[in-house]
Amino acid sequence: MKARVLSGVQPTGNLHIGNYLGALKNWVKIQHDYESIFCIVDLHAITVFQDPKELRNKIREVAALFIASGIDPKHSSVVVQSAVPAHAELAWMLTCVTPIGWLYRMTQFKAKSALQEGVQETVGDGLLQYPVLMAADILLYQAAIVPVGDDQAQHLELARDIAQRFNSLYGDTFVMPKTSLPSVGARIMGLDEPDKKMSKSATGTGHAVGLLDPIDQVRKKIMRATTDSNPAVDFETMGLGVANLLAIYQAFSGTGDDEMKAKFAGMRYGDLKKTVAGMVIEHLEPLQARYREIVSDPAYLDGILADGAARVSPIANSTVDLVKSRMGLYTS
Ligand code: TRP
Repeated sequence: MKARVLSGVQPTGNLHIGNYLGALKNWVKIQHDYESIFCIVDLHAITVFQDPKELRNKIREVAALFIASGIDPKHSSVVVQSAVPAHAELAWMLTCVTPIGWLYRMTQFKAKSALQEGVQETVGDGLLQYPVLMAADILLYQAAIVPVGDDQAQHLELARDIAQRFNSLYGDTFVMPKTSLPSVGARIMGLDEPDKKMSKSATGTGHAVGLLDPIDQVRKKIMRATTDSNPAVDFETMGLGVANLLAIYQAFSGTGDDEMKAKFAGMRYGDLKKTVAGMVIEHLEPLQARYREIVSDPAYLDGILADGAARVSPIANSTVDLVKSRMGLYTS
């Protein structure tokens, strides 16, 4: 039996080339080596207020982008989290074995709750429970491998701690998810702030290249990217912005290190940006064309999501049943 791989993306903000090169592209590459489940985690999204209409649209957009990026829905399960009630059910049971102190310690909770305090007067309990729900996503399917960025490493570690605590209280139930990740993709930085990882929620218009950005905007954003005071590429002294542009080119094209040096050393920044923009557009154009095809046929997308939920539900439900019986809850 193939090992199970599981990951998730929140249907918020705009998926960008950093998400593609850092995660999606890697999922596409490894999907057939595993039994793969890719979740659109809408229950995580509502831990901060979402406009209902926008959320509904985003869920479909992210699903369509998964497929347009090359996730094969015949093999991999594309699942909307809220369509499989077992996620929320297991999350509650895990909440009851998770010490609050573990949750208050999460750096993402500290950062997000501080942000919310500025916007709303109260911080929703969901923000605190966020990592328990993520642990439920993972443990529900006894996933062995969970490819996530380093910003989620602490949550993955917590999932292991919760699994361990459950196992010691109620007997061996959960498989430990691996924290060691398979070769992770490129780490792409913001075009305007090359010392920060490219973010879905950053507001700056020059920060991220969205996978669905109009092509002329893609070109403009790359042409305006932050560089440094050198006039041309110097591999010894280049700043973060130039290194980031080269990383984008390399990740899209798969060019080797030596070839990168031969091609770009001494290239003036104007030409560098044109070359990088060309490579990005070469990949985004067909992706956007596939995306438009997918969203033009709503029944096709609904079918994929229904298939995904139907395929994973028996696994999820049998875990919930096992957990119920371990805890002494009523099972028929
Ligand atoms: N918390 C993750 C993020 O924001 C998304 C996520 C939710 C996830 N459930 C998951 C990732 C399960 C991997 C596995 O990136």
